[in-house]
Amino acid sequence: MGVNKRGRVKNLTAGRPPTVLKPKSISRKATRTLINSHHVLEKKKAQAVAKGDIATQAAVEAEIAALGGLEKYQQASLQGQRLDRGGDSSRVLMEWLKSMDPNFTSLEGARLRMLEVGALSTTNVCSKSGVFDMERIDLNSQSDGILQQDFMKRPLPKDDSERFDIISLSLVLNFVPDAMGRGEMLLRTLEFLKGPETDSSSQLRDIFPSLFLVLPAPCITNSRYMNESHMESIMRALGYVRAQSKTTQKLVYYLWVRNSPLQSPLTTFKKLELRSGHSRNNFAIVIRGSSG
Ligand SMILES: C[S@@+](CC[C@H](N)C(=O)[O-])C[C@H]1O[C@@H](n2cnc3c(N)ncnc32)[C@H](O)[C@@H]1O
Repeated sequence: MGVNKRGRVKNLTAGRPPTVLKPKSISRKATRTLINSHHVLEKKKAQAVAKGDIATQAAVEAEIAALGGLEKYQQASLQGQRLDRGGDSSRVLMEWLKSMDPNFTSLEGARLRMLEVGALSTTNVCSKSGVFDMERIDLNSQSDGILQQDFMKRPLPKDDSERFDIISLSLVLNFVPDAMGRGEMLLRTLEFLKGPETDSSSQLRDIFPSLFLVLPAPCITNSRYMNESHMESIMRALGYVRAQSKTTQKLVYYLWVRNSPLQSPLTTFKKLELRSGHSRNNFAIVIRGSSG
């Protein structure tokens, strides 16, 4: 009730006409359901595309559109970034960086370059830190500071001035619908990061160049084809060493530092069962090694 019986307005907001209505928040359950349905449909679509099954592809695309498409999926993901739902994942990254180098936040002059793939906002914790020159991309840009671009089609850097000190892949790798595509995405990070030998101050050399990777926890903790040591083996072959990691009920966070060249010849990592059981998921990463 905004107005009492005598016509006096009780408080300012109550007296104001409803000019701006807050966007309706989606419940946690609805958010989760929408994100999961989207992932399942993207997977079905990738399978139809691989088989050249145009009819199924069109049917699945219609289902994706009926759910509201990528835009609705992104809105649901943004809900997940709200503080009351765990907050934005780059908060964890910034905490790690500060713990690895206590002077980190005063490094404004260091001109560290970050590529945030799958960026939904320009105001997350790493963007606001003032430490990074940010470049943000997404398949479907939601804001002015985010370039609409597919990371897998981004033109390769001409030289080190176009390469990055850190790449963020937060909840992006699991968006890729097939295991081979995920391997290709991880391999592609190497093209955009500075080389492992990049000379920076010795402290920073323990932190950069690096990859901040966030995945839903079950991708690692409950997959038939993936576990912690398999993930580590794949990343080691790519030249990454694990500097930080953290697993919560929902998410697994990693900071992988690029400290050596890509393994040569590169081992092939196939989709092999590591754990059995009905309740497992099928998250996998396949790397096509030098031998094909
Ligand atoms: C679940 S959202 C994650 C958003 C945010 N990074 C976070 O941690 O909450 C995944 C985003 O990744 C984007 N994405 C997936 N594959 C991509 C690619 N190849 N290039 C650019 N963006 C991509 C999607 O468009 C989507 O907005």
